[in-house]
Amino acid sequence: MLMTSIDYRQAVKEDVSQLQELLDYFAENGLILQRKDVEQNYESFWVAHDGEQVVGCCGQRIYENGSQKAEICSLCVREEYQGHGIGSALVGNVLADLETNPDVELIFAFTRAGPMLEKLGFEMTKRERFPEKIMAFCNECPHYSNCDEQAWEYVL
Ligand SMILES: CC(C)(COP(=O)(O)OP(=O)(O)OC[C@H]1O[C@@H](n2cnc3c(N)ncnc32)[C@H](O)[C@@H]1OP(=O)(O)O)[C@@H](O)C(=O)NCCC(=O)NCCS
Repeated sequence: MLMTSIDYRQAVKEDVSQLQELLDYFAENGLILQRKDVEQNYESFWVAHDGEQVVGCCGQRIYENGSQKAEICSLCVREEYQGHGIGSALVGNVLADLETNPDVELIFAFTRAGPMLEKLGFEMTKRERFPEKIMAFCNECPHYSNCDEQAWEYVL
């Protein structure tokens, strides 16, 4: 595959079924949380395309509780495309998008892919700093009591 041919853009309605399929695959493997809101929230995703195929995605979630925090979530790249910078490029696109949002002051992620985020300017922090995430999403996670994800933050 030729990585220069990968196209990055915000998801459109036509991407929904492939996006859902990609997310379901990684959720079934226990690597990301299941997403049941893709149809309603597809615009919050960036996708990487190789031709017609969606090969990666990264979501963003803005917390509307006055905290001015946004989360980078649901990051995945098809296995045969991993290790070629697609995940980093997806996060870079989401970061650039969030940086233009005046309501966002801090971006965070709970992840096992910390080294990748560190290269993009994130710093490791404590999960407890993000109770809104824990209460809204972690509670439903099967790994809640033995979570191996670390919290990372990016201050704008
Ligand atoms: C995490 C993921 C999206 C990275 O995508 P990718 O396209 O392979 O990422 P990149 O090629 O941009 O990798 C950038 C760097 O991060 C590192 N990295 C990627 N995934 C990592 C992981 N799970 N743990 C530690 N380091 C990781 C790579 O080694 C690479 O470092 P290098 O440049 O020194 O070689 C991909 O591995 C994936 O889909 N994993 C399964 C789903 C998942 O675990 N998502 C994260 C949820 S916590």
